[in-house]
Amino acid sequence: MFALLFIVSNIMAVSIDQFKSRPGDTSLEAALANSFAITAAILAANASLSDRTAVIPEGEIYYIFPVSLTGIYDVTVEIRGTVSALDDISNWPTAENGARYLDIFYFGDSHYLTIKGFGTIDGRGYRWWEKAIFDSKHFNDRYGERPRLLMIESSSYITIQGLTFIDSPFYHVVLQDVVNAHVTDFKIKVDITSQKSLFHKHDLLDDLGIPLFPLNTDGVDPAGKNITISNCFIENYDDAVAVKPLQQSDKLAKCSEDILIQNCSVSFGVGMTVGSVPPSLSVNCVNNVTFRDISFKTPFKAIYIKTNPGYEGSGIISNIRYENIDIESPVWWAIYIGPQQQKQPDGEGPGCFLYPLGKCETQPRVPMRNVTLSNVRIRNGLLSPGIIRCNETNPCTGFVFDNVRGDGWMSSTPFICENIQGIAVDSSPAPGCLVTISDV
Ligand SMILES: *[C@@H]1O[C@H](CO)[C@@H](O)[C@H](O)[C@H]1NC(C)=O
Ligand SMILES: *[C@@H]1O[C@H](CO)[C@@H](O)[C@H](O)[C@H]1NC(C)=O
Ligand SMILES: *[C@@H]1O[C@H](CO)[C@@H](O)[C@H](O)[C@H]1NC(C)=O
Ligand SMILES: *[C@@H]1O[C@H](CO)[C@@H](O)[C@H](O)[C@H]1NC(C)=O
Ligand SMILES: *[C@@H]1O[C@H](CO)[C@@H](O)[C@H](O)[C@H]1NC(C)=O
Ligand SMILES: *[C@@H]1O[C@H](CO)[C@@H](O)[C@H](O)[C@H]1NC(C)=O
Repeated sequence: MFALLFIVSNIMAVSIDQFKSRPGDTSLEAALANSFAITAAILAANASLSDRTAVIPEGEIYYIFPVSLTGIYDVTVEIRGTVSALDDISNWPTAENGARYLDIFYFGDSHYLTIKGFGTIDGRGYRWWEKAIFDSKHFNDRYGERPRLLMIESSSYITIQGLTFIDSPFYHVVLQDVVNAHVTDFKIKVDITSQKSLFHKHDLLDDLGIPLFPLNTDGVDPAGKNITISNCFIENYDDAVAVKPLQQSDKLAKCSEDILIQNCSVSFGVGMTVGSVPPSLSVNCVNNVTFRDISFKTPFKAIYIKTNPGYEGSGIISNIRYENIDIESPVWWAIYIGPQQQKQPDGEGPGCFLYPLGKCETQPRVPMRNVTLSNVRIRNGLLSPGIIRCNETNPCTGFVFDNVRGDGWMSSTPFICENIQGIAVDSSPAPGCLVTISDV
């Protein structure tokens, strides 16, 4: 009877506790044992004829080092408890001869993979953020020296559901060249109070209290085809969702496209974002992205489309829609469409941070075509409602502002609008360079 029960309960899942995991233990040895146990359970599920689910049990915290897997097929990873990265930077494993820290969870070349549960992945990023401020060259490189929380690459049919992601050292969830994916019912939270006090301590906040450079704690950064991101709450002090480009040289998709982001609320974020998109010899591309039913509270930016500098190759950003967007008390620009406005801590990159007070060059090699904003409300704005800027040698076309309205200080100040062609319907204030069609 017991034997039968054991078999029955075992048919469904492989628990990491079958592989000598050590819950609640913060030692280096335990973190290594737990990473091993998670890896072993997933490989066992991948090899099993019947037990295709690897379970991280409820009610426990498992401290870990990186877990890296490739070639997983038709497996479910169910996280019921908490998985917490050990914040031991000096012992954190690296790749490429130390050039890069390994991600906390990495899956490559995997298909029909589901990662779900009501559990939490905690990146314990504080020490990494502090390093990024002190030693920016080594810890804030744009290729991502710090670990990402969950990285999925060159993969298809991916489902991520129900989880909470907190305090990643770097980006939280990255889908790089992923097709047919759904990320849903999830939360991303960064301890913004401690981030803010870190900036404050090092005198890196501007007069509005805005950090002078980002710590790159992005929420979800998808690049792929046929991706839906839905039902989320994100509070992270950086881009909430940033759709990244793909190019001809990518494996599964050649353009980042057919992406839908819907029903999310964002608090203290830097936008529902496209980009940044630099030109490339292999043509960087983002096409057909819709953001729908999104509400923002005190965002630094909300609607954000950004190109990056570069003087070779080309790119395209096309068919982008923002629909039913509520922006409450934006701290900075509610709408920013133009050259990337960020200063890296090493002082490199475009001098766009203080635009319009300084010069900020627009990008003719990455035109934007067909950008629609429909039913957008901005409440209690502080600055002008926004900036939309393209280059005089390659103006952006097909812009539609349909029922975009704002109040607050900003309602009396105009948009900054350069080299954009399109129409504004029933919008106030309407960007000066669009043709206004009055409400009939
Ligand atoms: C996972 O299983 C598939 C077959 O279903 C196999 O081809 C692949 O090599 C396995 N992956 C690993 C990492 O063992
Ligand atoms: C899009 O991806 C979903 C899985 O998230 C899949 O069920 C659907 O068939 C895909 N659609 C197309 C057109 O491939
Ligand atoms: C929107 O997302 C929230 C969770 O963030 C969920 O409770 C709600 O059911 C979702 N609404 C729809 C229409 O799916
Ligand atoms: C745009 O993407 C959506 C998914 O978000 C898809 O349903 C639609 O068919 C795509 N449009 C075109 C023209 O491919
Ligand atoms: C437009 O692009 C050209 C070529 O990159 C650049 O030299 C020029 O400064 C840009 N214009 C503006 C207003 O930034
Ligand atoms: C922009 O929209 C127009 C009209 O729908 C369409 O003909 C054109 O192909 C679109 N441009 C791009 C780059 O998709």
